[in-house]
Amino acid sequence: MSLTGLFLILFLTVHLIGNLQLLANDGGKSFNAYSDLMGNNTLIQIISKGNFFFIILHTIQGFMLYFKNKGAKGSKYAVSPKNKTSWASKNMALLGTLILAFILMHLGHFYFQFKFNADALATVNYDGETIIDSYQKVVEVLTNPLWLGLYLLGLAVLAFHLSHGFASAFQTLGLSHKKYTPIINFLGKAYSIIIPLGFAIIPLYLFFTK
Ligand code: HEM
Repeated sequence: MSLTGLFLILFLTVHLIGNLQLLANDGGKSFNAYSDLMGNNTLIQIISKGNFFFIILHTIQGFMLYFKNKGAKGSKYAVSPKNKTSWASKNMALLGTLILAFILMHLGHFYFQFKFNADALATVNYDGETIIDSYQKVVEVLTNPLWLGLYLLGLAVLAFHLSHGFASAFQTLGLSHKKYTPIINFLGKAYSIIIPLGFAIIPLYLFFTK
């Protein structure tokens, strides 16, 4: 669970860096070129398949852990110590399920459109090459107040999930140390704020400027 989680943390970082091109004031040219590469490069396609595999695996592992813990709590011998577990740590399965719903909505907005509905999308021509105008599709979706609201909500849920998941992944891998654990905890908190905030800036920027 921690390894798949760490892979997804890496994916989120790369995904955010790529998406920041939506903020470039170039009419979408750099984002369209990036999106075209993402959709057609063979190596990236293989990584993309791996990414989907890890999302599914992480989900299955999460549910298995949830039911295992639930079974343990149901036991007569369970004690409920007054430990300092956060709200997020106790609700990881709920948060994860909401993120899954967010991802399905998100794939419907973009990934499935670019893959299976490309003929219905607008195109642009750069230097004689015609490609999908992914930028326009993103702007169309994220400037809709309903989708904007759901994206911001999804990113808030992601922030809570990461606030526990990041440090927890390292702990599960056995990286528990008097000196390093507080640093990992701090990095986890920082990551869980910076990444969702970075994503949130994109729809907000597009909503208020387009
Ligand atoms: C406002 C923020 C975001 C924007 C603008 C955005 C945009 C996009 C776009 C345009 C694609 C399609 C890429 C392509 O096929 O060419 C995509 C794919 C994807 N996005 Fe996002 N995204 C955002 C946030 C997120 C978040 C927060 C998550 C996860 C929680 C996420 C997960 C994914 C996944 C799993 C894919 C499929 C990638 C693959 O091919 O493996 N995205 N996103």
